[in-house]
Amino acid sequence: MTRLLLDVDTGIDDALALAYLASLPEVEFVAVTATPGNAGLRQVALNTLAMLELCGRPGVEVAVGAEVPLSVPLVTTPETHGPQGLGHAVLPPPSGSVSARHAADVWVEAARAHPGELTALITAPLTNFALAIRREPRLPELLKRVVIMGGSFYHQGNTTPTAEWNTHVDPHAAKEVYAAFRGLPEDRLPIVCSLDTTERIEMRPEHIRLLSAAAGCAVEELVLPEQPEGLRSTSENPLVRHLSDALRFYFEFHRHYDQGYLAHVHDFFAAGVAAGTLEYSTRTATVDVEVESTLLMGTTVADYRKLWGHPPNARVVSGNNPEQAFQELIRSVGALAARLYER
Ligand code: BDR
Ligand code: CA
Repeated sequence: MTRLLLDVDTGIDDALALAYLASLPEVEFVAVTATPGNAGLRQVALNTLAMLELCGRPGVEVAVGAEVPLSVPLVTTPETHGPQGLGHAVLPPPSGSVSARHAADVWVEAARAHPGELTALITAPLTNFALAIRREPRLPELLKRVVIMGGSFYHQGNTTPTAEWNTHVDPHAAKEVYAAFRGLPEDRLPIVCSLDTTERIEMRPEHIRLLSAAAGCAVEELVLPEQPEGLRSTSENPLVRHLSDALRFYFEFHRHYDQGYLAHVHDFFAAGVAAGTLEYSTRTATVDVEVESTLLMGTTVADYRKLWGHPPNARVVSGNNPEQAFQELIRSVGALAARLYER
């Protein structure tokens, strides 16, 4: 069993990560907390509740925390993830509601109640995680494993030329979080999935077609570059339909930025690392975040050679296997879609 505490800013690739995790029978969602980033806080929470219900996991506690980053104004990104964060997808409104507890309390209470048992996955800015560590400085030791999607080391940024989105939204939180892991044993250091390797996880239209086949859809789901932008899916399978509508928007966004008709599904990769189902390798590093320079705000730096003379605080993912990742995604989410919705 993998018992998961998640923090998300759902978000197209966060939604895919949730669908993938929900497809794994061995994954238990202890709670999911929402951070603003891809969309505003309330929208992120609603998207998260709606996705969990769509994926057959109703009743999971979804809590909100900080409404804005620690020290900089909030910026959201409707051009990347659509006006409501899920691209062209419009999910049924969730029947569940947002928890009354603060996200940071949810994390601290769960980690104290189950020391050494919980895997943490953060696919959002690190605001809530930093607040939780302020409340419980032993949090990095209480968690069994921490996986973070964020940063860009020897790779160009996706928000500024050098900075990655999650870290750029709340650079001060990221700096605090990495500082909190300094000097811990190697197996307690966060596994950091940065753009260096998540941009290798390129989802393409063919993967959606294969997903619809794995879901047992009578009609293949075809998302094609020549189709008009914003075309909506008519798939009879609701999970395939909504994922297709969400991903079509992500393909269009990447094409607008000359990256091709594809999507980097960063958070799905991080989810597979957290669940232990995807292949990857890591390198130990000391990671720090720039929070003063206007030019380099939110830029992450990894010292692999101990040049700073500081103890390591992260295990940065240095290798992954996109082919294995997509085979696993299609197999598992296809089976979930069939289980839940096949007629
Ligand atoms: C990260 O930023 C967000 O837009 C994505 O959901 C992902 O978590 C990639 O930089
Ligand atoms: Ca995200």
